[in-house]
Amino acid sequence: MKDHAAILQDVRRGMIPAHIYNDEEIFRLEAERVFGRSWVFVAHESEIPAPGDYVVRRVLDDSFIVVRDEHGTVRALFNMCLHRGMQVCRAEIGNASHFRCPYHGWSYRNDGRIVGLPFHRDAYGGEAGFGRRGQTLLPAPALDSYLGMIFISLDEHAPPLREYLGDFAFYLDYYVKQSEAGIELRGPQRWCIKANWKIGAENFAGDMYHTPQTHTSVVEIGLFREPKAEKRKDGCTYWAGAGGGTTYKLPPGGLRERLRYVGYPDDMIDRMTGSWSAPQQALIGDHGFMISAASVFPNLSFVHNWPKVAERGDIEDVLPFISIRQWQPIGADETEVLSWFAVDRAAPEEFKRLSYKAYLMCFGSSGMFEQDDVENWVSLTSTAAGSMARRLRLNSRMGLLADGSTVADPLPPAEFAGPGTAYVGYNEHNQRALLRRWADCLERPAAAAGAVEVGVP
Ligand code: FES
Ligand SMILES: [Fe+2]
Repeated sequence: MKDHAAILQDVRRGMIPAHIYNDEEIFRLEAERVFGRSWVFVAHESEIPAPGDYVVRRVLDDSFIVVRDEHGTVRALFNMCLHRGMQVCRAEIGNASHFRCPYHGWSYRNDGRIVGLPFHRDAYGGEAGFGRRGQTLLPAPALDSYLGMIFISLDEHAPPLREYLGDFAFYLDYYVKQSEAGIELRGPQRWCIKANWKIGAENFAGDMYHTPQTHTSVVEIGLFREPKAEKRKDGCTYWAGAGGGTTYKLPPGGLRERLRYVGYPDDMIDRMTGSWSAPQQALIGDHGFMISAASVFPNLSFVHNWPKVAERGDIEDVLPFISIRQWQPIGADETEVLSWFAVDRAAPEEFKRLSYKAYLMCFGSSGMFEQDDVENWVSLTSTAAGSMARRLRLNSRMGLLADGSTVADPLPPAEFAGPGTAYVGYNEHNQRALLRRWADCLERPAAAAGAVEVGVP
């Protein structure tokens, strides 16, 4: 780690070595030390509601079958046959009581237990040669969920998920708990971009500074009600626990007026007030901050926005949508994006339909915001691979003065009811917070995991 000490030191003072956005060696360290120990989102329970329902998701190169077994228990099974290592499940999504390996036909129940081993007696001499009993596809070392969001960790000693999320859970509720029914998802849309995974995570965590420039055209065509994209500087950024995000400052009003302003119908507002705590309501109702984009370390992001979906005379109809997205690394210079549409399960069908339309206009593979963003990220990534990038330390100190004090004071509790630290105005506090966590992971070698032997007596 000696070679990297200087990189981590630079990152911690907000001077970012440009090559970290496209560097094979850094990527190998990230695989071991970031993705080898963090909680990584794999699915939402609503994606696998019935016994046998499964989705196949990855943590880097490790494929997992995230499945609800016959007894309703959610499991994440390493998708590698215990015989010669073939992927047992080749479909991305489905329902199955058993998984049969396509190579030699070993089969497994949907709780991972081996049930079928062709020619067991002839080939192995039966149980004495290869003990099937108790053998299962390897479970993910740790699995935990919060409000239906399923995460796994490759570190069996990972702290409980709720502890890992910390105070970010307060903000998570705005996205995933608009009623006691929770959310349902559509998607994910998946596509690959030639960009480093950290760029999207940083952007969603706190880059409100790019909006006026990168997304000018979205404002110009009238998709966004806010007349000026500069509106973002009135919002604040917050960081709490494992994540942080951005907010918009809404016009004067109380909780109901402000939720109506972004397009929520009254019956949904009633359910929100029944599900959110007093401080969660106060953040919007008293202090006027409405959550927008956010990221949870390492690679999970959220967005909540309210584009114009219709114009009738002088009435402007905006409609809110929520998207959950994941920046799934493929390599130092490539990321698979998974983009889900999320909506409160109890929302009226008409709202779900229009909210989905709003999401598709803005995000997803054809979304206008998405297109604008990715153009920057791809270009940044390819330039970061060159030799000149190794000399360059990017200044990511926005919001800090030369002596390290902040340009603006953090908001006091009387002006910001949420936990963590919040600042109004353009800043890069959250990008730095995210990369500080990254640096903390990178300097700690991961403990070697024990080997699991298959079928030996
Ligand atoms: S590799 Fe799966 S049965 Fe042989
Ligand atoms: Fe953007």
